[in-house]
This record gives sequence, C-alpha cells and structure tokens, in this order.
Amino acid sequence: MPHRIKAQRGVKSRKAMRTSKKTVKAVKNVKPGTGRILHSKHAVHAVKKSKPAQNPVVKSEPEVVRRTIKKGVLQSVRGMRDILPHDFRYWRWFKDTARTIAEQYGYQEIDVPIVEDVSLFRRSIGDVTDVVQKEMYEFTDAGGDRIALRPEATAGIVRAYIEHGMLNLPQPLKLFTMGPMFRYDRPQSGRYRQFYQFNVEVLGSEASVIDAEVIVLAYTILKELGIETTVHINSLGSSESRIQYKKILQAYLKSRKNELCDDCQERFLKNILRVLDCKNEHCQQLIADAPELVDSLDDESRKHFVSVLEHLDEVDIPYVLNPRIVRGLDYYNRTAFEFFSADQENGRQSAFGGGGRYDSLVEQLGGRSTPACGFALGIDRVISAIREQKIEPPTQPAPAVYLAQIGDQARKRALQLFERLRKAGVPISGNLAKDGLRQQLELADKKGARFAVIVGQKELIDGTVLIRDMESGMQETVDFKKIEKELEKRLKI
Ligand code: HAM
Repeated sequence: MPHRIKAQRGVKSRKAMRTSKKTVKAVKNVKPGTGRILHSKHAVHAVKKSKPAQNPVVKSEPEVVRRTIKKGVLQSVRGMRDILPHDFRYWRWFKDTARTIAEQYGYQEIDVPIVEDVSLFRRSIGDVTDVVQKEMYEFTDAGGDRIALRPEATAGIVRAYIEHGMLNLPQPLKLFTMGPMFRYDRPQSGRYRQFYQFNVEVLGSEASVIDAEVIVLAYTILKELGIETTVHINSLGSSESRIQYKKILQAYLKSRKNELCDDCQERFLKNILRVLDCKNEHCQQLIADAPELVDSLDDESRKHFVSVLEHLDEVDIPYVLNPRIVRGLDYYNRTAFEFFSADQENGRQSAFGGGGRYDSLVEQLGGRSTPACGFALGIDRVISAIREQKIEPPTQPAPAVYLAQIGDQARKRALQLFERLRKAGVPISGNLAKDGLRQQLELADKKGARFAVIVGQKELIDGTVLIRDMESGMQETVDFKKIEKELEKRLKI
C-alpha cells in the first residue's frame, strides 16, 4: 500500500498566523530597555520620552541580494510579474465571480500549501511528464527535505483530502481554491513561471453528471465574465484501453518516427499520447490521420462519455470532440477537456483552462479508492482575454463621503472620525496625508463623492465638522458627535 503524504512541515495554518500577528503587536509595545508591554497611550508617551537607540539595528536584506539585478535596477524574476493596483479590478472581478458561482453550485473553498513534498507531484502528475521533468521548482530546504513549489493544485487537494479523512464527510465533496502555481517553462505571452489558477475538484463520485457539472461551472464563469468559449472534449478511457491504444499509435508512427520533432521522438518512447497535442506543425501533419483513442475505448468508458455529452447537450454547452485532448498530467482517465476561445477552430492556441476525471489518484496517493473530477482555469489567460476583448469589469460604487482635514490637529481627529464612519457603514474615502482644502475637494470631486466632511481648526475648537454638498457647494455645520446620524439622514443609509 503506498504511503500517505503529509502537508509540508512548518507551513503555518491561518490560526497560527493570527497568533504571530498578536506577537508582533506585543513586541512593538515593549518599552525600550524594560521588556514591559505597554498599551496605546502609555506606549506613545514612552516613545516620546525615549532616547534614540545607540546602535540602530540595520535590517539585513538577504532576499534583496538574491534577486535579479539588471543594470543596477532590481527587477522581478523572469516569468514572474507584479499585479499592480490599477489591474486589480480585473483580478477582483474574476475572483468574486468565480467564488460566487462556485458557492452557488455548492462548492466549498479550501487552501493548501504552496510548498509540498516533491514526491507528491512525482507520484501524481507523473515522473515522465514535462511538468515534473522540466518545469518543477524543486529544492532542498534547510532541514534537508526535498520540496517543490506546487505546479498545480489537484495533487495538494487530494493529499489534504486523504490526510484529513475527508472521505468520511458526505460525498461527493465539492471543493475550490485559487492561488499561484509555479512552472519553470519558457515565458511567453500567456505563459508565466508564476501564474494563477482557479481550481475545482469533486471527490467521491463517478457519475457522468459531475463531469458535466464542472464543465458547466467553468463555462458559466467564463460567460459571466463576457468570454465566449467552446469545450474541446475527449475520453481517455481506462488504463487498459489506453495501453492498447498506445500500441496502436506506436505502430502507426513507427515508420515516421524520425520525422517527429526532437521532443516527440522522446515522447514516442516515454509518453506517446503527448505526440497528439504537440504544437509543431510537421508533427501535426504526421498525426492528422492517426487512429483515435475514442475507437479503443472500453464499453464502460464509452457509455460514460456518451452520457457526459448528453448532459452537455441538455444544457446547450457548445463542445467539439477533439481526439488531440490528452492532457499533460498523468493522472487522468475517461473525460478530458479544455476550454478555448469560441472563435478558435483547431484549439491549438493556449487554453483558458482544462481538466478531467482522475479516478485512481486518491488510491495512488494512499487513500481509499475514490473517483474524482475537476478542472483549473488559468486566471492570467482569462484576464488577458478580458482585456484584449475590451470587456470592462463593473465599476465600483463611488464613495459617498470624502473626509478632508486642515492641519495636524484636525488630522488626528480625522483619523478617528474615518474609523467611526467606516464602522457606521458610511461609504467613505479620504487622503489623510493631504493638507490643502482645495486639493482635497478636487480629489473628492474626482472620486464622485456626494458629500465632503471637513475638519478644520475652528471646527476642532467648536466640536463640530462641516458637511459640504459636492453638487451645490452648500456647507452646513454639524455637531461632531452627531455626524453619523447627519450623514445617514442625507445618504438615506
Ligand atoms: P493544466 O492544463 O496544466 O491543468 O492547467 C490549467 C490551466 O492553467 C491551463 O489551461 C492554463 O490556462 C493555465 N496555465 C498552465 N500553465 C500556465 C502558465 N505557465 N502560465 C499561465 N497559465 C498557465 C491543471 O493544472 C490541472 N490541475 C487541472 C485539473 C484540476 N484537473 C483536474 N482538476
């Protein structure tokens, strides 16, 4: 019986993280030289009175030294990029949409570590796949363990399913996760070394309707984001039918083996199915008339496949039977699918996502025999398509109130007021670093605020604030204590 694989030692749970945040706060409040924990105002007082440290601690920056330096300028590592604040509206839209739809379909969110034992990926994705052989970020940690940055999420989720005895929960278990994956591939448009996936897994059912459900889920998410897609679908059958088909394919290609590209010559020996999805044009010509896997399917797999297609017909999901869909990871059997742009005939470009059934993986990793099915969407690629097609994410509602302050004392009051209004549910924004009133009112205007709340020197003394109607320019003085009520009245919250 294969042994179970556990979560990487030392990877913190969310609870543990929370504890460490508290520790940071406590450490910050230690009065210099006493080791005593002080709270809020006492701490400020102590800091004011404390002398500057004799030997200021200079933070070492080993991570900075290790980063790529180009002409003296630090840059992100090749194939990895920053997602900047102005791009976040796309990412937030994708994530919110995917999460909402997945939850509507009864899927629960799960997070698994980014780092796992190397053997998990070797045993699941397969030793002779490109992902494991060429693309895995693999290293030995300080404790001597061989670990890897996850190239995909399915293996980690299956490991967690076994490790936490989730097979004892009501089945099928429907899960989703989102996060970064890592593959050391040649970077190009739509292909990164750190990329993001939205991943869905259903464990504990072999029903064909589950295959259809996950396809409908991915399709619906893409549709909701304005992307028209076609599902390219195939069946990989059982392992026995694949063994038989591989022999047929080998016999077919034997006389033409030397004409295959270098990669495919290797694949011919190790993983001949991958010749079918080679992007090289000459290889594609050579396999154009190759026998198809679907003709070698065992009866059960054929029935299952037909049933999946019938379900898709029922919900009008556009699909193409594509014998070239064989998937790049070894754990698949039966249904395999990828999502391509609807205007693409041949499905030779980058897929938005892909997935399929993996009925043996749980057992292969040490669990009880559990059929399963899932997919992952490449978030980077979906967002690129959204941008290329000039699809605009829904705009965020403008903040109704802008908080402006004049002078240092007012700023202290404004910081407190900001929190009060936030807690009261007032949609508020502001820029506490700004001083000039005109500049702040311009910002309020730009943000589309309906009202500005102005805290000035005079108002501070009087215990009041000004509420300015941004449309009419009319200003009214209101009691500082009653500001929430006054705003609620005006905003009809
Ligand atoms: P995959 O086909 O290897 O499947 O990846 C799914 C999607 O991730 C791809 O279709 C693509 O959109 C995106 N992707 C993959 N590599 C890159 C890259 N280097 N840069 C940008 N995007 C990329 C899996 O990972 C399976 N675990 C899916 C699955 C879940 N099967 C069953 N359950």
